Amino acid sequence: MNGSHVVTVSQVRCEAEGTVSLRLRGHAGSPLPAWTPGAHIDVVLPSGLVRQYSLCGEPDDPEYMIAVLREPDGRGGSAEIHDTALVGRQVRIHGPHNRFELEPAPAYVFLAGGIGITPLLPMIRDTATQGLPWELHYGGRRRDTLAFTAELRALANRPDGGLTLYSDDIDGPLPLPAIVERAPDHAALFACGPAGMLAAVRDAAERHRPGLQVRFERFSAEPSGIDDPAEPATEDMSFEVELSQTGEKVTVLPGQSILDAVRPLRPQILSSCEEGFCGTCETKVLGGTPIHRDTILNEKERARNTSMMICVGGCASARLVLDL
Ligand code: FES
Repeated sequence: MNGSHVVTVSQVRCEAEGTVSLRLRGHAGSPLPAWTPGAHIDVVLPSGLVRQYSLCGEPDDPEYMIAVLREPDGRGGSAEIHDTALVGRQVRIHGPHNRFELEPAPAYVFLAGGIGITPLLPMIRDTATQGLPWELHYGGRRRDTLAFTAELRALANRPDGGLTLYSDDIDGPLPLPAIVERAPDHAALFACGPAGMLAAVRDAAERHRPGLQVRFERFSAEPSGIDDPAEPATEDMSFEVELSQTGEKVTVLPGQSILDAVRPLRPQILSSCEEGFCGTCETKVLGGTPIHRDTILNEKERARNTSMMICVGGCASARLVLDL
């Protein structure tokens, strides 16, 4: 995990209907931390909201690039970016972090829904540079809402690339079961998009291609009933959290989140989704036994008990020691 940096917004550009890209420059032009395809950063917006955006530029570009879709029903972050004159302004970022690494494979199938193209774009560039076969299926509400299509077409013109664009108003939704069924045996499938789309991909893979290597990145909470979404804190027992950096102790009351309990003592803690799916509040565990309720950590990471999402996680022991 990388640290915190102040960056200047050097450019805002329209990439498609409803989507703008932002270029972020390091302080005095200094280089920003290295990153790999699939990485994201936490952006602290002028209002104080924290939002995650995938890096969609090129890893050897000294500036970062992110792209933001205006989401009328969102929680305010995208509207703030679209409605604020940001060029020349400084914002704080944290990261990069990467929980969506491009794992080695002899071939790739990429599936993007809407703004889900952003983490996949650097993966596709990387795959094309390596000369590995790939195909991208990219869907959106209308053709004019699909971003980066000129670059994607250029990449797909190389011998190993394949691009199919879908718009809901003309083609209907992405034919996910058919795409998953037809995926080459040795391919890895990387999908990013709305939770409903990812649930359909997962369902198709489990039914028709159980051996297929499938990786997801989601931008929103799972709809209820899918993939064990974060459960609410329902303990009827309180527990104690020790903040290791000062030795202070906090009691977490029944039904209260650890995040809410410790925030008065650590107001600098970042959080965003507060539902266990974004990773912003991930905190190192130094003692005690956490209960994991997030949808980020995999089974091995949960079993290690070395970190937890404190917005939803609980405690199976009487006391938890956190690196705070
Ligand atoms: S704030 Fe998003 S996982 Fe905790």
